[in-house]
This record gives sequence, C-alpha cells and structure tokens, in this order.
Amino acid sequence: MIMNFNDSYSHVFWDDNEQLRSTKFQDIFFSKNGIEEARHVFMEGNSIPWNFKSGFHIGELGFGTGLNLFLALKLWREWNTSQEVLRFTSFEINPLPGKVIRKALLKFPEIKHILEEFLLHWEKGETKIKLSNLDFELIVGDARETIILFNQKVDCWFLDGFSPKTNPEMWEGKLVRRLADRTKPGGTVATFSSAGMVQNNLSQAGFTIERIQGFGKKKHMVRGKLTNG
Ligand SMILES: C[S@@+](CC[C@H](N)C(=O)[O-])C[C@H]1O[C@@H](n2cnc3c(N)ncnc32)[C@H](O)[C@@H]1O
Repeated sequence: MIMNFNDSYSHVFWDDNEQLRSTKFQDIFFSKNGIEEARHVFMEGNSIPWNFKSGFHIGELGFGTGLNLFLALKLWREWNTSQEVLRFTSFEINPLPGKVIRKALLKFPEIKHILEEFLLHWEKGETKIKLSNLDFELIVGDARETIILFNQKVDCWFLDGFSPKTNPEMWEGKLVRRLADRTKPGGTVATFSSAGMVQNNLSQAGFTIERIQGFGKKKHMVRGKLTNG
C-alpha cells in the first residue's frame, strides 16, 4: 500500500510551546522529554532491552511521529550485533507527513540517523519498510477495524493512543481483548495511562497489571503481562 499525505496535515498543529498537538483531541504527541518518556513508559514498561530475544515483535497502537519505533530500533541495534531483525507493527489512523515528523523529532539527536534512514522510505508513501535490523509495517486506519486484519502474535504492545478521556475508542474492551488474543503467552503491555477504564479492560482481557510510577508529572502508569490469554 502507498500512502498519500496530501490532506493529512490539518489534524495537527504546533502549539505555543512548539509542541505537536492533535486538533481533534487537543492532546500532545509526547512530552518535552519525549525520548526519556518513551524509554520509561514503553521500553522499561515492557522490560526492553532485557526482554529482547531473537524474532522479537513489537505491536503499537498510535504511530504518531514514530518516536517509540526509533528508540526501540536504536536499543535493538545496541543489543544485537548481528543481522537479527526486529519486527514492529504499528496501527495509525492519520499518518503524518515526513516534514512534520522531522520537525517534531529534531530535538533528539540520538535517533537522527535512524529517522533519516526511515524517512527515505516513508516519504515515498511506503507502509512496509525494511531497514537493516528492522522489518516494519504500518497498518493504516481505525485500529478498532484494522486490528481484525492482524493475525500475528507479538511479544509486547506499546499502547500510545491519546488520553482515554478524549480518545476512549483506542482503549475500548473489544479492541483490548483482540490485543490480548494477538499477544504471545507471557507477552507484555505498557501504557502511560493509569485510567480505571484502561486497567479494567486490560485485566478483563487476561493481563495481570501493575500500576507503577509514571513519567514526569504523571503519578502512575500501567504495565501488564499476559497470564490468562
Ligand atoms: C499520542 S499519539 C502517538 C504518539 C506516538 N507514539 C509518537 O511517538 O509520536 C496518538 C496517535 O494515535 C492515533 N490514533 C488515534 N485514534 C486512533 C484510532 N482509532 N486508530 C488508530 N490510530 C489512532 C493518532 O492519530 C495519533 O497519531
């Protein structure tokens, strides 16, 4: 599939603090310390890099600027010195143009090289991208519908939709149950949110969850392990 970004720029804007924000959800894509936030919430929340193993597959809801992917690939390349490939599948309703992604991630020099490698393909509209050590797929559309098309099982999930207050669709029970079904036994999940709805839906889907310290101003976040899938 080839993406067309022509009219996809109106759903985001730069706020007064030069942070990328969604017009519809009025929410930011990541905090000022985005890379440290991604490290704390999604990597450490899923015990990455300690859990990495051959054939590791990450699933993500909400690709946004791809920051989580770029950090995960950086850690994978540091962990794995051979040609082993990290698989990464991300679900996104509104893929961002490369120029927006580039501007949003400019302040993170540690991922600049990977970002440019990736954008060479992304800017051609490619949704399946192979780089050295990476096999990536973007599944475009509403995750509630596209998750049905996904028939593989992942080692862990990054749940990175906008806040459940404004974007409850990304956290609803039916979708979360489908995620559990698409998780390997003992697989994990992590999210910045500790909302009751998120905790309940994850528990009911078979994840044993743990509320741990959140990043920055966020008191708590949630991580879980599939124990009843
Ligand atoms: C908080 S942002 C993701 C941040 C991202 N991980 C990053 O590194 O920039 C949430 C993303 O979820 C996407 N999204 C919201 N609702 C969705 C849905 N129903 N299906 C798929 N993607 C959705 C938004 O378009 C947005 O890109």
